[in-house]
Amino acid sequence: MLEIGPIILRSWEKDDLERIHRWENDFELMLYSRGMPHSMKPYENVVDYFEEERKREDRLHYVITLKNGGEAIGTAVIRLSKWSRVQSGNIGTYLDKKYWNKGLGKIVTLGLLELSFHFLNLDRCEAGSIEYNKRAHRVLEECGFRRVGVHRKSAYVLGRRWDWYIFDILREEYLEIREELIRKFLGSEAEEYLKRTSLF
Ligand SMILES: CC(C)(COP(=O)(O)OP(=O)(O)OC[C@H]1O[C@@H](n2cnc3c(N)ncnc32)[C@H](O)[C@@H]1OP(=O)(O)O)[C@@H](O)C(=O)NCCC(=O)NCCS
Repeated sequence: MLEIGPIILRSWEKDDLERIHRWENDFELMLYSRGMPHSMKPYENVVDYFEEERKREDRLHYVITLKNGGEAIGTAVIRLSKWSRVQSGNIGTYLDKKYWNKGLGKIVTLGLLELSFHFLNLDRCEAGSIEYNKRAHRVLEECGFRRVGVHRKSAYVLGRRWDWYIFDILREEYLEIREELIRKFLGSEAEEYLKRTSLF
């Protein structure tokens, strides 16, 4: 569990699955978060997915909740992989639509970077996002990611093919800007967070 600013990233529980099922069948949400808005999922599939994923050590799934009141407002994930002795985390997140554009996505992304680098000691993080998802690109770039590649015309949505952008950030790049990002996004809560996440 990670408490950062106004949010908490905690593990998925069975009680969350109904809400996750609703999100995973929200056309507009999936239009941005998966680039596959037409793949509707029955509740049983969400349960099966949850059961399979929680057995895996290379998947870290989170439910995002508000610290104030505990409402679940979205999900986040870090998918771990190791290739040629380099440990990577592929991150993803979505928020319930009513919480878009309130600055929370940047804090969630900061939280995922904190988990990846400050807690898990990963070497690099990456994220993929469909060409038209300008808001997500802005959030990633604001958090220090760079657009490093593109899978051209590799997603088909609403009558045409779109590029799939790849963003990444290296551990040393994050550590260089860590305190600056924390102060920028957490404001008056930054010092308390920095103190809580360092022993000395
Ligand atoms: C992507 C998502 C997690 C971002 O969270 P959020 O809380 O909405 O984002 P924030 O409010 O922290 O920041 C949004 C930024 O994008 C900017 N933005 C919003 N719409 C934009 C657009 N159409 N073009 C460019 N920038 C845009 C905002 O101005 C803001 O930047 P600023 O604060 O520097 O001005 C959230 O919108 C979401 O769940 N979207 C649907 C799923 C999704 O896209 N997931 C990510 C897949 S990679």
